Amino acid sequence: MELIIRPTSADVAVTAADVLAEHVRRGATLGLATGSTPVATYQELIRRYDAGELSFAQCRAFLLDEYVGLPRDHEQSYYRTIRREFTEHIDIPDARVQSPDGTDPNPTAAADRYEMAIVEAGGIDIQLLGVGTNGHIGFNEPGSSLASHTRLKTLHPQTVADNARFFDSADEVPIHVLTQGLGTIRNARHLLLLATGEGKADAVRRLVEGPVAAFCPASVLQLHEFATVIVDEAAASDLQYKEYYRFAETKKSQWQGWGGWNLA
Ligand code: F6R
Repeated sequence: MELIIRPTSADVAVTAADVLAEHVRRGATLGLATGSTPVATYQELIRRYDAGELSFAQCRAFLLDEYVGLPRDHEQSYYRTIRREFTEHIDIPDARVQSPDGTDPNPTAAADRYEMAIVEAGGIDIQLLGVGTNGHIGFNEPGSSLASHTRLKTLHPQTVADNARFFDSADEVPIHVLTQGLGTIRNARHLLLLATGEGKADAVRRLVEGPVAAFCPASVLQLHEFATVIVDEAAASDLQYKEYYRFAETKKSQWQGWGGWNLA
């Protein structure tokens, strides 16, 4: 795992945009996350698009997850959210931005179709991830199978409480979701997880330094060959080996010169 600590959340967004831009230039299939964390990264990518530095015309995108039961045009559906916050502002063809269909009366069939669509597209090149305060990625709550695929899940009350800020009240947050599974996420060729703020410090410690366990679904990144975690100082504050990660980062230009990605 490559761990990069940046001073502020704004710095995290710039570094994340650098990583994503490399893939975008190759016309990658992008795995996109919603939630607050990636918003600044999307804004930075939109800025680069507006400046003529980047085109998404050859890319396609798959979302991580979707609420079950929200109409697609609901402002908080992830179908709408990703368009409002990112894809409407760049040149990616809208038909190539796909998400699980949370309106299907048969969510299990919708989940299977979505998993198949990812496979048929040749898989995801880079999957952007946030992390929940309880260690979830996508909506894979604690206890999720590390081998799971896209499926119906019930949100943990902590996640409902965390997401209530996007709705008028906690009662309006759907409790069922369709989410890529941990196995689906692990199939992506590159994982890029972002975390900012002190509220994520415990989840970051458990995902980076804790045991690989369903108790902290994000710890599954430890099993991936190509995982990059970018955090700000606040989110890094509980890491035991923080100084070592920082030291390794300062030496990176040296090993990149040797053609290596990760000597860990
Ligand atoms: C969103 C998603 C979630 C969020 C996580 C963190 O598509 O899958 O796992 O990434 O809940 O949310 P924020 O970034 O709002 O703290």
